[in-house]
Amino acid sequence: MTIIVTGGAGFIGGNYIHYHLKEHPEDRVVCVDKLTYAGNLSTLKPVADHPNFRFCKLDICDRDGIFALFEEEKPDAVINFAAESHVDRSIEDPGIFLQTNIIGTAVMMDAVRKFGNVRFHQVSTDEVYGDLPLDRPDLFFTESTPIHTSSPYSSSKAGADLLAMAYYRTYGLPVTVSRCSNNYGPYQFPEKLIPLMIANCLNNKPLPVYGEGKNVRDWLYVEDHCKAIDLIVRKGRIGETYNVGGHNEMANIDIVKLIIRALGKSEDLITYVTDRKGHDLRYAIDPAKIHSELGWLPETKFADGIQRTIRWYLENRGWWEEIVSGEYRNYYEKMYGNR
Ligand code: NAD
Ligand code: DAU
Repeated sequence: MTIIVTGGAGFIGGNYIHYHLKEHPEDRVVCVDKLTYAGNLSTLKPVADHPNFRFCKLDICDRDGIFALFEEEKPDAVINFAAESHVDRSIEDPGIFLQTNIIGTAVMMDAVRKFGNVRFHQVSTDEVYGDLPLDRPDLFFTESTPIHTSSPYSSSKAGADLLAMAYYRTYGLPVTVSRCSNNYGPYQFPEKLIPLMIANCLNNKPLPVYGEGKNVRDWLYVEDHCKAIDLIVRKGRIGETYNVGGHNEMANIDIVKLIIRALGKSEDLITYVTDRKGHDLRYAIDPAKIHSELGWLPETKFADGIQRTIRWYLENRGWWEEIVSGEYRNYYEKMYGNR
């Protein structure tokens, strides 16, 4: 089969392409990516020479370009990872989030409608459910938890989810949606918590913890997310949403301290900074549906996954040092300079 993977030069899309070509080398994988600040061609180096891989620099909002690609490639499936993905950036400048995350998703689905017989999977996030209180560890997000977003980012992702389900109901588009918790692993852009803390630790820079560091996230190793998506695309029920997460909740400050210990640095590097506006308190996924219907369970324990991730950043300094020495420096100064 031929599969279009959008956003494949980013963190999860890149890991997904590595995974897909390893597990299904007979499939043709066409990566569509605009190469924004978050897209990195070097993430795709390990598959660049694979005979069944093609990279296409293209914006998912470019209707003519996307339609022409569908005409040429005649895909059997589309997995839409492409998005603006960083909450802090969405607070600074929401517009591009609405454009890529909502309009771009609609363009991809219009192409699916026009060409027919194409499975469409929308990669969404647990952030569409808003947050849970810190003092109610008995509460989890299920697929029937109401959408209740906090940031422009999560609102744009929720908009795309609603559109996907509307295209299913109105046009009968063969759509599925997955809502995953926080991912970690190789190739994550160093603006996100775990790679930012690893990079700053290695450079002996302050570690900016928002608020008191008590916010909780439910961490999943990226390859487990990739396996879940592959399963949903092959065996998931059309028109359904699946939550993906592994009951691995941790407070931010505990993650930061763990990274400090693993790299042999001092906790004096921790700097508490002004909190994120509208900061969600706690995310926690109930993955019962994907477990009972598709047999998915996370395979990587956090203790192993985080060591593997830290080792990857140590062994691949070139990948992230190139990022943090470029335009990222202006971003960092703007976000953290006076915080
Ligand atoms: P990322 O920011 O690392 O990568 C996004 C990729 O999309 C980049 O390669 C970028 O160049 C590309 N892109 C952006 N705008 C585009 C456009 N208009 N056209 C084509 N390509 C474009 O993001 P990520 O962390 O890999 O997230 C991937 C998807 O997974 C997103 O949809 C995100 O909402 C979702 N998600 C992420 C997490 C997480 O923890 N990172 C968790 C759950 C869901
Ligand atoms: O839950 C899934 C979501 O996880 C995805 O949909 C998003 O694309 C992804 O970016 C992620 O969102 P978060 O906002 O949870 O991730 P981030 O890495 O930005 O922050 C994780 C937590 O760490 C959050 O509580 C804010 C805090 N934080 C983050 C940064 C960058 C800090 O304390 N300091 C920091 O410098």
